[in-house]
Amino acid sequence: MISINVYPLPLHAENDDLSDFVAVVIDVLRATTVVVSAFAAGAQKVIPMLDIEQARQQKEVLEKIHGKGSVLLGGERKGIPIAGFDFGNSPQHFTSEKVAGKILILTTTNGTVAMYAARNARCLYAAGLVNAQAVVERLKNEKNIAIFCAGTDGEMTEEDFLLAGCLVSRLSRCFPQNQNRQNQYCRNHHAETAKQLWENLFFIDNNESISELKLIEFLRQSRGGRNLVALKLDADIMFAAKIDSIDSVPEIRL
Ligand code: MLT
Repeated sequence: MISINVYPLPLHAENDDLSDFVAVVIDVLRATTVVVSAFAAGAQKVIPMLDIEQARQQKEVLEKIHGKGSVLLGGERKGIPIAGFDFGNSPQHFTSEKVAGKILILTTTNGTVAMYAARNARCLYAAGLVNAQAVVERLKNEKNIAIFCAGTDGEMTEEDFLLAGCLVSRLSRCFPQNQNRQNQYCRNHHAETAKQLWENLFFIDNNESISELKLIEFLRQSRGGRNLVALKLDADIMFAAKIDSIDSVPEIRL
């Protein structure tokens, strides 16, 4: 049996044994988009941390080992960059000039919390719209898949659920090529709902047809998007909406 479970919030997975699952964490706006972008720009490692002080201490410890300037701090609280950090949480700022070869320590309000919630899975990947198809390629031969949406401030958020639906929809379309796999395939209720959301928005005549403008508008109106619009961070939404622009999948090790 192949299972795909979508969790709209990390707490929905609290009672599930995920030791045999491959997990994907989604925080489209913006934590996992940052992780994916930083890796694509050549960051050596991204270390998620829950706490700002711990992040600062970890930087000191690692710089004693790897040298001054080898570790960068990134993240936000309430969407705003943290005092003394090298970066906020705007994915387009993580350029190869700044992050190639560096260790990045990231702490965010919801995204890094979701990564810790998924830590008992067999392995853990970061997904954004930007690497959606690469994630599908990575997962399509897996048996048990758990998709964690980070949510925003304890509430489910539409942009994460939309990407979950995109992944479920694309994964489902991988299976018909192999009849045996399709017959043994099951999704939880949230996975089914997320898939329908994606297909209602981006399917024409049974084929995926993505309008980037429509995607940007959807993100702007989502819970996470409204927060960013209020902070005049529209550029981050535009970046996060560049679907399938990155073909790598960072593995998160905690
Ligand atoms: C988070 O982890 O809560 C987000 O990434 C929020 C943000 O980027 O502002």
